[in-house]
Amino acid sequence: MKISASFLSSHYISRDLEKLNVTDIDYIHVDVMDGKFVRQKSLPFKELKNIYKYTSKRLDVHLMEKDPRKDIRNFALLNCEFITIPIEIDVPLFDYIDLIHRYGIKAGLAISPHTDIEKVYPYLEKIDLVLVMAVEPGMGGQEFMLETTVKLAKLKQKIEEEKLKVLISVDGGINLETKDYVKDVDILVSGSCIIHSDNFQETITKLRS
Ligand code: DX5
Ligand code: ZN
Repeated sequence: MKISASFLSSHYISRDLEKLNVTDIDYIHVDVMDGKFVRQKSLPFKELKNIYKYTSKRLDVHLMEKDPRKDIRNFALLNCEFITIPIEIDVPLFDYIDLIHRYGIKAGLAISPHTDIEKVYPYLEKIDLVLVMAVEPGMGGQEFMLETTVKLAKLKQKIEEEKLKVLISVDGGINLETKDYVKDVDILVSGSCIIHSDNFQETITKLRS
């Protein structure tokens, strides 16, 4: 199991990034919000791009945007492992997935709590990651929605049945208690639990166990 630390980018904190950089965290999860797909708005790319100054970790970019085309191109210039876009937006998703792949980056689809997991099935052959949201997208520090576990189980079964290589990531409300509900996933995204802890490394190790 890998851990992706959401450093709560709406309050861009270089100190947290530097602290994460000396842990064995697998990825830095970067939440990007446009004020349209979600009400909240993150810093513009010209400021967010400075992330690279504080971390050498691979980025797990989560674009919560109505039209992420521009930011796919922007973030593709950074050290990205994944770029994930929401499944609920009205854009040609297959084209956007291709665009991400053309940069040599793994493509993900994020699925909000109220969207049926079946919606992602037609894309599974084309994507590398499904980011299952366990909270309403928009902000850190919310409570894990227990219904997410049913979705995760269905998705896992589908991936196994079809022998696909898609990774499952879960995002929102993950802490030292809720991690036990999602044992079967490949990546855990965790923000407040790590960032608000006294010892980042100790928390990361516990989240993995
Ligand atoms: C929610 C974001 C999450 C969030 C995670 O909109 O996509 O990545 O920052 O934060 P916690 O772990 O605090 O729920
Ligand atoms: Zn996120």
